[in-house]
This record gives sequence, structure tokens and C-alpha cells, in this order.
Amino acid sequence: MSYNTILTNVDGKVATITLHRPQVLNALNDELMDELGAALMGFDADDNIGCIIITGSEKAFAAGADVAKMAKYNFQEVYRHDYISRNWEQIRKVRKPVIAAVSGYALGGGCELAMMCDMIMAAENAKFGQPEIKLGIIPGAGGTQRLPRAVSKAKAMDLALTGRMMDANEAERAGLVARIFPQAELLNEVSAIAKGIADMPLLTAMMVKESINASYETTLSEGIRFERRLFHACFGTNDQKEGMAAFVEKRPAKFTNS
Ligand code: CAA
Repeated sequence: MSYNTILTNVDGKVATITLHRPQVLNALNDELMDELGAALMGFDADDNIGCIIITGSEKAFAAGADVAKMAKYNFQEVYRHDYISRNWEQIRKVRKPVIAAVSGYALGGGCELAMMCDMIMAAENAKFGQPEIKLGIIPGAGGTQRLPRAVSKAKAMDLALTGRMMDANEAERAGLVARIFPQAELLNEVSAIAKGIADMPLLTAMMVKESINASYETTLSEGIRFERRLFHACFGTNDQKEGMAAFVEKRPAKFTNS
């Protein structure tokens, strides 16, 4: 499959999608979001893939929604065509783990896209922010909802009301970023992490993801109930038998994703 605005690469069980509109710091337009959605759905359906990375360039993961395009939109158009909802949230349907590898700017929709991934790994030069207020709009791809859940109400208000950027260290301290790496090593490090995840039993990795994501959508009691059901379901898999037998027999496990 060939695309205009993204690059894709498969290395073993890890698929990497690189946002690629370098002339505009990977500003997110409809074409890019359609292509990203198609690539994600393809890799999610591919039994040979166990983990997906989304990344950008050294200078920008993505500097937000495409402002030049948005400048011409009016209410009637965005409402009628369901701007953002139509094609930005395909990633939420992906059941395999997705890692955002962020170098440089992750602003506005770029920060929101990173937050739609299951975790964010950042380069030392990463910068996160929701500067939409400076354009007369509010964050529109989940920023007002996911950011406070990730970093607290105080910091989300600070970022979205002032439009300022926070660097990788602040983002890690605040809980938005899982780990930070030197810029030159980001992709190698994240690829190694993704490979490790892809080598885990796939059904179990999918259940971990589904259960942790459920904690965002429900009460603690319901979340625990959901977790317990999936935990019990693990005992119906061949990989639970293999993983525990391998531990007892002191040998590496050979998972079959079944
Ligand atoms: N949309 C369209 N084009 C963009 C863009 C964007 N979000 N961000 C950068 N570009 C373009 C610039 O216009 C510029 O193009 P030209 O070379 O043709 O002039 C090119 O990319 C390089 O950008 P700069 O010259 O501005 O680079 P810089 O290093 O001086 O600054 C920056 C980098 C601070 C990220 C700056 O580009 C910037 O502030 N970008 C806009 C960030 C922003 O406001 N994002 C939020 C968008 S709204 C949104 O995302 C809504 C939502 O919630 C869904």
C-alpha cells in the first residue's frame, strides 16, 4: 500500500508509521488522517504484527491540525462533515498496543494524537502543548478530556489556557510521557520496547490494553469487575499454559498467540 502523507515500515512484528508532511511540520489534514487510519486498521488486522509505533520527524511529531486548511472552515461545514470525529479516531479502534515516539513539536492535534496512543515515549527535544486558544478555538481532538486525565486539571488548565509548551522533562514529571531518550536514540529505543511487547503473548497484551483503557471509562468497581473477567479469561488461553509451564520448567516460553 502506498501513501502520500505517511511512510510505513515493518520490521519483524513491529510496524512503524511515520507522519510525513515535512514542509508543514506534519500538520494533520484529512488526507493524512485517512491514511493513518487505513494503515492502523491494516496493521491491527495483520496477524504478523504485535505492536505499532507512530512517529514523526526529528523536528515535529505533528504541529497540530492543518491551520491553513482550517482557516477556511465555517461552522456549517465542520458540523455537517463531522470534522475530527469522521476520521481522527480510527486509532481508538486499534486493539494492539500503539506507542507514540515523539521528537520535537507535539502541539494541538499533534499532542492529542500522541495522547490517543497507549503510551508516549519522548526525545529530549520533545515539546507538548495545546495552543489552540491562540487561534480562537479550543482543543478539538480530545485535548480537554485526555490531558487532565494524564497530567491533572491544574496543568491541563495551565497548558490550554496559556497555550504554552512544556518540555519532555516536565511532561514526564506530569505523567504524560512514559520515558525520555536522547533524540538520536529515540527510534532505536522505542523499536526495542515495541519488539519486546510484540514478543509477548498477543491476546494477553490486547487484554492488558483493553483493561487499562477501561479504567478511563468506568467506576473502580466496574473496572475491577472487567479486569477480573479478562484475568479469568487468560486461563483459557494456550499462552497462559505455556507461559507458566515455561516458568516452572525454567525455559523460555514459546508463545503461539492462541
Ligand atoms: N498547520 C499548517 N501549517 C503549519 C502548522 C500547522 N499546524 N504548523 C507549522 N506549519 C507550517 C508553517 O506555516 C511553515 O510553513 P511555511 O514554511 O510555508 O511558512 C512551516 O510549517 C514551518 O513552520 P514555522 O516556520 O512556523 O516553524 P518554526 O520552527 O518557526 O515554528 C512552531 C514551529 C512553533 C511549531 C510553529 O510552526 C507553530 O506555532 N505552529 C502552529 C502550532 C499550532 O497552533 N497548533 C495547533 C493547531 S490547531 C489544532 O490542532 C486543533 C485541534 O485541536 C484539532
